[in-house]
Amino acid sequence: MAAALVAYLHYLSIFALFALLSIEHVLFKTPLDLSCARSLMITDLAYGICAVLVLATGVARVLWFGKGAAYYMGNSLFHAKVGLFVLVGLLSILPTLVFIKWRSAVKAGQVPEPSARQLRLVTWSIRLELLALLFIPLLAALMARGYGVIATG
Ligand code: HEM
Repeated sequence: MAAALVAYLHYLSIFALFALLSIEHVLFKTPLDLSCARSLMITDLAYGICAVLVLATGVARVLWFGKGAAYYMGNSLFHAKVGLFVLVGLLSILPTLVFIKWRSAVKAGQVPEPSARQLRLVTWSIRLELLALLFIPLLAALMARGYGVIATG
């Protein structure tokens, strides 16, 4: 039962991750207004929480509820999956830093004005995150079915 529940939470947090990132992509357009800026900051915070949940449920499946840690450590597609997840985490740093910088202005009721360069960089970070996220479930489905096993001699 616990294994099913953790698997469910893994999927749920993944769905939320996709949804929240898509919302960020749609909202991050100029000209911004105050409520849009607030929504972006909250969405990004929720996105960070979901990413932690994905990681926590993933680690729990590796350690306690899956096929055993040795299975995953010996699977190249698992390494690729975690590598892509780390890449997504790295790509998310820039948008998060931008939203954190807005905090005091938004609190004071001022509308943030991202530069054209910032707009381009953040938009592309989000797009690349979405693209990388598309491949992770494929790697997961393959590694769960025995593909990618590293041969030991
Ligand atoms: C956005 C990131 C992630 C996505 C989209 C994702 C997606 C998935 C999917 C779709 C499955 C089901 C595979 C299947 O049974 O067909 C799965 C299973 C699993 N995931 Fe993730 N995952 C992510 C992150 C992680 C991370 C970071 C870890 C580990 C640190 C992890 C560990 C696992 C494990 C152990 C399983 C069970 C595989 C099995 O049934 O043997 N996942 N994941």
